[in-house]
Amino acid sequence: MSRFWSPVVHGLTPYVPGEQPKLANLVKLNTNENPYGPGPKVIEALRAEAGDALRLYPDPVSDRLRQAVATRHGVKPEQVFVGNGSDEVLAHAFQALLKHEAPVLFPDITYSFYPVYCRLYGIEYREIPLTNALEIRVEDYLQPNGGVIFPNPNAPTGRSIGLGAIESLLRANASSVVVVDEAYVNFGTESAVPLVSRFPNLLVTHTLSKSRSLAGLRVGYAIGDRDLIEGLTRVKDSFNSYPLDRFAQAGAVAALEDEAYFAETWRKVMESRRKLVSDLQALGFEVIPSTANFIFARHPAFEGMDIARRLRERSIVVRHFSKPARIADYLRITIGTQAQCDLLASVLGEIAGAAASRPRSSVSP
Ligand SMILES: Cc1ncc(COP(=O)(O)O)c(C=O)c1O
Repeated sequence: MSRFWSPVVHGLTPYVPGEQPKLANLVKLNTNENPYGPGPKVIEALRAEAGDALRLYPDPVSDRLRQAVATRHGVKPEQVFVGNGSDEVLAHAFQALLKHEAPVLFPDITYSFYPVYCRLYGIEYREIPLTNALEIRVEDYLQPNGGVIFPNPNAPTGRSIGLGAIESLLRANASSVVVVDEAYVNFGTESAVPLVSRFPNLLVTHTLSKSRSLAGLRVGYAIGDRDLIEGLTRVKDSFNSYPLDRFAQAGAVAALEDEAYFAETWRKVMESRRKLVSDLQALGFEVIPSTANFIFARHPAFEGMDIARRLRERSIVVRHFSKPARIADYLRITIGTQAQCDLLASVLGEIAGAAASRPRSSVSP
C-alpha cells in the first residue's frame, strides 16, 4: 500500500501464477507446461539469433512469425496477431474488443486471469455458472453482453465444447466479439479457426507454451477477421511496439515449422494421459474427461488440499484451487513424462491405500 499508487492499483487483485519452485528434483505437474523440451531445430534457431543483430530492435510486426502462423492455419497474415504469450494477446483483446457498456461474459470456473484483466481495464463482467457436470452450456450466454470469452477446452476442467455449439453462439451473438481461448486445443479439441472466415466477430487465441514446449519463450497469437486484428494492433502499438524479441520470433517460427517434432511429443503426452486416467480411476479417482494436457480429478475419500499437501511432501507439485468451493476437492494435474505419471500414480496409490479404511474426517493427520 502506498500513497503514490494510482487509484486503480489499490483495487487490483493480481493473478497468482502456479508456483515455479526453485527446488531441484521436484516433479512439476502444476502449470501445464510440456514435459518435453523444444525440438533441436528450435534450439538451433535460437543459437543462430545470439549474435551481432541483437543490437538492433526486432521486427515490430513479426512478419515471418505471422506468416508461419498463417501458413500453419491456412489464413492470411493480416488475420494474425502475435504477442508476448497468449496472456498478452488476451489482455489486448479485453482492452481492444471486450470493453463495452454491457458486461463481458465468461464461465464462473475458468482461467482466473479473465477477471483480473477486467479489473485492470475497468470492464464489467458476469460469470456464467458451469453446469453441475462442470460443462459450458452456450444457451446460458444468450443474453446482452459486451463480449464473450471462454477457453476451449476450459481450464481447469479440461472439458471442451464442439464447433456446432460455438457456431450457434456466434450466430446468436453477432453484435459482439466471441473470444475462444484455445491454449490447450492441440490435445483433442476441434479448433474454431476454420470458422474465422465466416464470422467477423470470432477471435481465436493460441499459445506456443503448451503443445510446442515453449512456455519459457513467451509466444502467443490470435486469429480473426482483419478488423479485429487491427484493433489489437492499435492497442499493442499504444503499449509496446516490440513485444516479441528476436529469440521469441525465431524460436516460434522454427517450432511452428517442425511438425514432426510436435507430432512426436504430442503422441507421448496423449498416451501418458490415457494411462494416467486409467491408473487414477483404478485408485477410485473421478476424472473429468480431458481434451487438454492436464486432467482434473478428485477422490471421494480425500480433500483436494490434503492430497496436494501429501504429494508435495513426496516432491510432486500439482495445482489445487480452494475456490470456488465446488472445485475445492479437485486437483489439476499436468501430464508429465511417462515416468513422472507412473511415479504420481504410485504415490497416490500409497496415499489412497493407507487411508482406504479410514473415514474422510480422519484422513488428515
Ligand atoms: C486457458 C489459458 N489461456 C491462456 C494461458 C496463457 O498462456 P501463455 O501466456 O503461456 O501463452 C493459459 C496458461 O496457463 C491458460 O491456461
